[in-house]
Amino acid sequence: MAPLAGYTCYPFRNLCYELGAGLCFTEMVNVNSLRYNDIATKRLLLTTQKEKYKAVQLVGSDPRAIEQMAKSDYIADFDIIDINMGCPVPNLVKSGQGSALLGDLKRASHIIKKCRKSGKTVTVKTRIGLKEDKLIAAEFAKMCEDSGASMITIHGRSRNMMYKGTPYFDQIEQAVSVVNIPVIANGGIYSKEDADIMMNSTGADGVMIARYALENPFIFSELTNKKVDKSFKKIINEQIKITSKYYDEVYTLDYIKRFISFCMRTQKGSNKLKQSLYKCGNIDEIQNIIGLIFNKEGE
Ligand SMILES: Cc1cc2nc3c(=O)[nH]c(=O)nc-3n(C[C@H](O)[C@H](O)[C@H](O)COP(=O)(O)O)c2cc1C
Repeated sequence: MAPLAGYTCYPFRNLCYELGAGLCFTEMVNVNSLRYNDIATKRLLLTTQKEKYKAVQLVGSDPRAIEQMAKSDYIADFDIIDINMGCPVPNLVKSGQGSALLGDLKRASHIIKKCRKSGKTVTVKTRIGLKEDKLIAAEFAKMCEDSGASMITIHGRSRNMMYKGTPYFDQIEQAVSVVNIPVIANGGIYSKEDADIMMNSTGADGVMIARYALENPFIFSELTNKKVDKSFKKIINEQIKITSKYYDEVYTLDYIKRFISFCMRTQKGSNKLKQSLYKCGNIDEIQNIIGLIFNKEGE
């Protein structure tokens, strides 16, 4: 499961593991905000003993700040640190973070080496380049391996493609051919067939799914042949329960609303229900709407 800002909180990661995902990440955690002890940032680091594998994603541009946070108590519970070298959001890129590192391999290498000093397993998530006329997936992957990364995930789009367009399978394939560490392919997977095409066209060691997992978390059981006998309604109710246990009501409402409306994105005629959903001010009201949305499904 991919890191997704606003979605891959502890309850959602738990769900993905339960449905068959091999590895899940927190959403990106900004090392600068963490250094200033920001409450909302610290909340992103919630995990428990029950989480199968604990992987945090950090984003930053200063190698020393990343090292400091990688060694800090904040992330003591996590065994894997993934470094975000792919986020295209202008604010982050302007300050040399995320996909900006695709244009500064020296700094990117320095970040990985410094992060490794934490003694944790370090992985990298990146893209294939900044622009389509300069694609560098293989060179970047080699740099990651040489700097000490244990795995690299490649989103097969360039920074300027943002989240649209067909991923460049050949770029991922070239990266696979030059490194010995596992390469995970990401981008545009919206079905089991898409995942098979991605695996076959790139020779990657695995696939990472992002947006489609919000629409259909069962994709993990489909891909791993894991038998799951649960309705969507039951899943949502469990998500409400676990989120309420670990987070306050404001966060729980916000997360559940966002999750349900993502699931309903492709459902026709769902606008009225979505509007009612967004008006819900407490958990009981949300439960009523869920009853209406999923009335065709049994418990
Ligand atoms: C709402 C949203 C939030 C995202 N947050 C993160 C993030 O925190 N860290 C990261 O590395 N990528 C993030 N991404 C990128 C995804 O992990 C993934 O690389 C991208 O969506 C392509 O995969 P897809 O085509 O399967 O959606 C985000 C994407 C979206 C749409």
